[in-house]
Amino acid sequence: MIRFLTAGESHGKCLAGILEGMPAGLAVSEAEIAFDLQRRQHGYGRGERMKIEQDRARILSGVRYGMTLGSPIALMIENRDWPNWRGVMNVESVEERRQSTPLTTPRPGHADFAGALKYRHKDIRNVIERSSARETAMRVALGAICRRFFAEIGVTAASHVVSIGTAHAAMDVATTPIEDLNRRADASPVRCLDGAAEQEMITVIDEATTAHDSVGGIFEVIVSGLPAGIGSYAHPDRRLNAILAAALMTIPAIKSVAFGMGAEAARRFGSEVHDRMFAEGDGVRRTSNRSGGIEGGMSTGEPVVMRAAMKPLSTLSQPLETVDLATGKDAVALRERSDVCAVPAASVVAEAVVMLALMNPFLEKTGGDSMTEIQAHLAATPPPSWA
Ligand SMILES: Cc1cc2nc3c(=O)[nH]c(=O)nc-3n(C[C@H](O)[C@H](O)[C@H](O)COP(=O)(O)O)c2cc1C
Repeated sequence: MIRFLTAGESHGKCLAGILEGMPAGLAVSEAEIAFDLQRRQHGYGRGERMKIEQDRARILSGVRYGMTLGSPIALMIENRDWPNWRGVMNVESVEERRQSTPLTTPRPGHADFAGALKYRHKDIRNVIERSSARETAMRVALGAICRRFFAEIGVTAASHVVSIGTAHAAMDVATTPIEDLNRRADASPVRCLDGAAEQEMITVIDEATTAHDSVGGIFEVIVSGLPAGIGSYAHPDRRLNAILAAALMTIPAIKSVAFGMGAEAARRFGSEVHDRMFAEGDGVRRTSNRSGGIEGGMSTGEPVVMRAAMKPLSTLSQPLETVDLATGKDAVALRERSDVCAVPAASVVAEAVVMLALMNPFLEKTGGDSMTEIQAHLAATPPPSWA
């Protein structure tokens, strides 16, 4: 079983992560992790911080001569911005705490208000630092190791942006081979495959920037190469759609998740929704993939297609009305450095969380402590058959 933990404050010294349960004998490298980290940092509408950070994960344990050992893999990403926050983010000095001015004006839409009440923090900085989406950088790094695992067995995850605000891509990605999808999406400043919509999305972000506002959107994640029968109908907590939806909902600002046709299925008749089957050679093919590759809580063997909707970012350069918790009086929210749109970045984060979430259902079916065992298991398992 795979487990992972992350730690670290947004402007603290570093982010730390531990991935436990990765099979032995998988080739991993810091360079491959760095590739996904830089994909997360791109995107039109991101703020100044992305220029400072240029994330790089160091592998601290669990890997020897470029191969996983089966022991916990520890990663560290230094926050290059930390020296600028040394006083504010000091882990020891009581004196500096005495000198610092507490933040007492929660930003609507963030964890600030409920977090301050929950932990009885008088300084909202204590909430902001960990609730920040900076944490997702570490999940992208851990997810990059899972991407390597899945690459060995022919499973690929990719993503692209479907809409930003009202600008919507009008195209069918089914025609884009999954191997090309990320390359094409990464070449777009908004990770959109539709050239006309890309321009509209940039315009929407520009408008939001000028209006001191923020904007959200929808992205799609596609996993191909997943064999049929990953996940299970046998118990609710093993349903693959539930596991993946929960994983996507852990990304800050994600407000809904859909598979295949999603909510549109509720407006159609059954004959317009379900994917007809036909025999081809020894196997079964489908005329469509409206289910998004999951039926009855299990992969069908078709690509798994998920969409997630992200709300507009909560920190606005024209701050919203709030209440100063120190005085109980009306106030305006804190203005923290912020992105205007992070939908392209969130789509990269989503690939990582999906790969992390797929590890356990996949290992449950094909398990082993080493890549050799897993590959032997896969080679020895006959393809699913009704005969
Ligand atoms: C990759 C990424 C980057 C983000 N950057 C920002 C940001 O710069 N400013 C901001 O206000 N929110 C940002 N967010 C969103 C906040 O983290 C999120 O809105 C906040 O935690 C509350 O969301 P929740 O209500 O879904 O928990 C970002 C989210 C992601 C996934």
